[in-house]
Amino acid sequence: MRTMDARLERLAETDTAHRVAALNRNDKPFHAVLAQQFDRTTIEQLCRLADMIRALGGARQGTQFLRTLLSHRRAMLYFIQPSTRTFLSFAAACQIVGMPYNSVRERSTSSEVKGEAEEDTIRVLSQYFDLIIMRHPAEGFAEHVALIQNEMPRTIPVINGGSGKDQHPTQALLDIYTLFRCFSEPRLEARAETTGAEAPHQRNVAARYTENPFAGKTIAFVGDLMRGRTVRSLTYLLCRYPGVKLLFVSPPELQIGGDILEYVSGNNIAFEISDDLVSRIGECDAVYMTRLQDEHDVDGESKSIDYYRFSLTCEMAGSFKPNLAILHPLPRRKELDQRLDALPQAKYWAQVRNGMWMRAALIASIFSVDVAIRDHYHAYYSF
Ligand code: CP
Repeated sequence: MRTMDARLERLAETDTAHRVAALNRNDKPFHAVLAQQFDRTTIEQLCRLADMIRALGGARQGTQFLRTLLSHRRAMLYFIQPSTRTFLSFAAACQIVGMPYNSVRERSTSSEVKGEAEEDTIRVLSQYFDLIIMRHPAEGFAEHVALIQNEMPRTIPVINGGSGKDQHPTQALLDIYTLFRCFSEPRLEARAETTGAEAPHQRNVAARYTENPFAGKTIAFVGDLMRGRTVRSLTYLLCRYPGVKLLFVSPPELQIGGDILEYVSGNNIAFEISDDLVSRIGECDAVYMTRLQDEHDVDGESKSIDYYRFSLTCEMAGSFKPNLAILHPLPRRKELDQRLDALPQAKYWAQVRNGMWMRAALIASIFSVDVAIRDHYHAYYSF
């Protein structure tokens, strides 16, 4: 543990560019650990690839093709922290690209109980598997594991499925993919109307990623922003899009970290801080709700916070913009009224499904089978 602490201290002192360089190969993510690894080109390539996998996965021939791609590789899902969506969507993503997987979800079943260092457990994984997908309660641990892998004779990629309060980059990728889809649909429909083209379909989806749909949009993050890793990671990605405005709405005790605000201002992205959701909801084009992360309480300190004021309710629906996109990384508690599920603005179930396609796209990109997918898609599915 002392070795890990020393490494984490060193990581904190290393600038982001060097950290990203250690995680990338050939200018693209080899390990996927930090949201800062994903520039605009990479994000949009992954979104296009997710669209293609989605289209191919909708038909038997395409599904069978996808399953051949990585049937010679194996994945380890090392999830030492509870998860429903991230675990299951990665499991489904592995199945989509034909990759067999195994999992460790309980430390009590590992030889760590006999005194083995967790680092050694991870070193062992690289002897049996070709990819580690991990969720861990410690901030920085996924990055630490990726650097360990870089030193191994057999280096395998590491994907961060959530690291403490710090980062959840694959959630951020599926979130931005969802926002792209939400923001481009009305635009594509309008274009189809003016040009007489057919309803948005394969031929038009390419347009989804040729423009910046975030310019002029206001995106609100609501809730426990101090301890929510999904908000941190998505903010890094949104800072790639000039013209977006970010609104951080939370109890003052749970506001977003100063490091993130520094990053936002450093990238010339407009932002505001508020503790009044009711008065601000009407100006939002997207609202990203989050639950209270009270598992991080040290001494029940969040019990005294009135979190109801940071809930989205049916009573607010009259103020919603018609094309508002309501997102939530889930799980939800009472901060997102279940009666909102029936509204067209509720995008969180689509967001869950988008995660499966996006994670399949990320795995395909890491193993460089993205070109084969593009070729197959264009040969069989674009017309
Ligand atoms: N959004 C998310 O990370 O959900 P899980 O914790 O269920 O994986």
